[in-house]
Amino acid sequence: MTHTFLILALSALVLGALGGLYVYAWSVPTWQIFGPALLRGPATDRRIALTFDDGPVPPFTEQILDILRARKVPATFFVCGKNVERFPQILRRIQAEGHSIGNHTYSHEFPYFRSQKKFALEIDRTQEAISKITGERPVIFRPPYGARWLGVYPVLRERGLRLVNWSDTGYDWLPKSDIMRLALKGLGPGSIILLHDSRNIDPPEKVDRSRTVKALPALIDAAHEAGFTFVPITLFISS
Ligand code: NI
Repeated sequence: MTHTFLILALSALVLGALGGLYVYAWSVPTWQIFGPALLRGPATDRRIALTFDDGPVPPFTEQILDILRARKVPATFFVCGKNVERFPQILRRIQAEGHSIGNHTYSHEFPYFRSQKKFALEIDRTQEAISKITGERPVIFRPPYGARWLGVYPVLRERGLRLVNWSDTGYDWLPKSDIMRLALKGLGPGSIILLHDSRNIDPPEKVDRSRTVKALPALIDAAHEAGFTFVPITLFISS
């Protein structure tokens, strides 16, 4: 009797741990066990990519665009459909200034325990919102938090979308991170750097990305000095 109980308890423990590990594994942006994620471009030369997530939102996306324009640096913006509908003119400017645009879902919900149907809706609403303004449908997708979940890959495949996460980040979502140092720490050929021009789909008055904006010029200059050239992510995909 005691033995049976012990075996049952142990099995429950092992199953629980395996279940936990399974759920956790989907949330690691760099793990590929459940499907491919582009983490970096080719390591053959010193091309790197800057990516900004969650926008567009005033004034931070616009300030970032000013900095990029002044330094002639192309970047990639993974936008949320909801923000695109709020600030179409900023998306228009992103496109006009030659940057790449990717899909970052409509409402930036944590992807766990969502159905394939819900995923598809989130992605389609955003493709729709973007193409209405730019005339083009994105070919790249970044999931919120870099996390994936059951059903995301078939939805992406059907729509010709490639999943892109990142290799480097300035941890600009943490309140006191040294954005520049962290972003440059592991920089190498093909690096994809994650930064943010907004936060989820919060209203603009709740968003403060001034630390990212402040860190950006020096970050770009340091990367240039180290011999790196910035390219849009789409260039990594086609090469
Ligand atoms: Ni995001």
